[in-house]
Amino acid sequence: MPRTLTPETHYIRELHGAQDDLLLGINHALADIGMSIQIGPEEGRLLQVLIALSGVKTIVEIGTLAGYSALWMARALPAGGHLTTINKDPAHIALARGFFAQSEVGDRITMLEGDAHHVLSTLHGPFDMIFIDADKISYNDYLDWAEKNIRKGGLIVADNTLLHGTIATPPPHENTSPAAWKQMRRFNERLADRSKYDGIVIPTSEGMSVAIKLF
Ligand code: DHB
Ligand code: MG
Repeated sequence: MPRTLTPETHYIRELHGAQDDLLLGINHALADIGMSIQIGPEEGRLLQVLIALSGVKTIVEIGTLAGYSALWMARALPAGGHLTTINKDPAHIALARGFFAQSEVGDRITMLEGDAHHVLSTLHGPFDMIFIDADKISYNDYLDWAEKNIRKGGLIVADNTLLHGTIATPPPHENTSPAAWKQMRRFNERLADRSKYDGIVIPTSEGMSVAIKLF
């Protein structure tokens, strides 16, 4: 879904969202294949600030697409930091590999190929941060993994938690299944449990949830 940005988001993007040729190239490549669903540059900056704030050194990203958010995050890591990202689609894997190879942070990124449910079962923490941005219906499965593999005090971050503008009203919705809606509501409720998380939904254009894992 193409995003409609508010004037304020345009302003923030202009102020904070400068992109180099590599990031711009990813945007163009995704637009060419009709897949402009990556995070915005202002959200890339948000991820970078979160990484700096929390002293994150190890990240697991679920859902690479062409590597746009991975590059924003890898660029914010300190020396010795590492990002593991999971990618399923062969065409997207090829795109992302090319972009990582062109970047100055390719050695900080490991891309694992396959379905995230399977790949995650092979990944054992503790990691500092997880960024969930894959199939929306599986967010609770990914949170189950994060609860076991993100360190106490680590960050759980998730894109699209306002579910393309549908989250506040019950189904039916035109482009979102009732099952996905139910799953995202549950996911958001889990992160709102103050006995387990210190969290909030940041009202970016798509909703970006951020939660500190307290246990
Ligand atoms: C869409 C947007 C996203 O950020 C995403 O991860 C998946 C889908 C969309 O707008 O359809
Ligand atoms: Mg997304």
